[in-house]
Amino acid sequence: MKLENKVAIITGSTKGIGKASAMIFVAEGAKVVVVGTNKERGDATVKEILAAGGEGFFQQTDVTDEASLDALVNATMEHYGRIDILVNNAGVSGTTANMNDISSDEWNTVLSTNLTAPFMLCKKIIPVMEKQGSGAIVNVASMASTGAGRGGLAYTSAKHGLLGLTRQMSMDHGRNGVRINAVLPGPIDTEMIARVLTIPQHPVCMKIKMSPATRAGAPEEVGKAILFLASDDASFIHGASLAVDGGYTIF
Ligand code: NAI
Repeated sequence: MKLENKVAIITGSTKGIGKASAMIFVAEGAKVVVVGTNKERGDATVKEILAAGGEGFFQQTDVTDEASLDALVNATMEHYGRIDILVNNAGVSGTTANMNDISSDEWNTVLSTNLTAPFMLCKKIIPVMEKQGSGAIVNVASMASTGAGRGGLAYTSAKHGLLGLTRQMSMDHGRNGVRINAVLPGPIDTEMIARVLTIPQHPVCMKIKMSPATRAGAPEEVGKAILFLASDDASFIHGASLAVDGGYTIF
């Protein structure tokens, strides 16, 4: 098993890519802290983890609220006494408005969830990992981290920022034993883009059809890439941006 006895926090792990990653991590022996705002979905995810013979617990957390993040870190340390892996996965697509139409509130919501939350959580967890002398962080960025497109101003800005955060933190903390990388999913079949995927004429669907994979990805396909970067198989990989997009961004 690739993550035997490792303690992993995965934000936004009650559905979509985060939940798929949680189940993959558990199958590889990790103890997973399930993180999200929705208690019902969180409890259901933990039930699935236990039914699969795994270990974990749910911590109800709003990643945009610093006190909530403190409670998450404290609860994890109380339960397990260490944090080996952090996956900053929670995200919102938010508005696709451009500069003429976007409100400051809309901007702040997208930036605080997709960029400031990973910053705040890394600020709390990197010292724990440095003290341990080891740790791996995987940030779930996006195809919107490397180009402009359908995501809109706030989402594209936040995901570009997340790549910068990944690279700079990797420079600053890699030598202390903390490996920090990013996955860049393309269109993945989750609630986030479910509506878009039902419209064949939508530019995203048209581009998917032209891409090498000719389809949207499954959450598990991103989860496996996250597993790779979080595991010792990626021991020489620091600050990388791994596209998991079926070739969507190569043309
Ligand atoms: P999803 O909507 O199924 O899941 C998002 C998760 O984030 C949910 O569990 C949600 O509860 C959680 N979340 C949102 N705001 C939160 C908050 N304030 N506090 C705690 N949890 C919060 O979407 P999906 O697709 O699984 O997204 C996961 C990540 O993948 C996001 O960062 C997203 O930007 C990224 N991504 C998704 C793509 C796609 O096509 N689905 C493409 C590229 C990146």
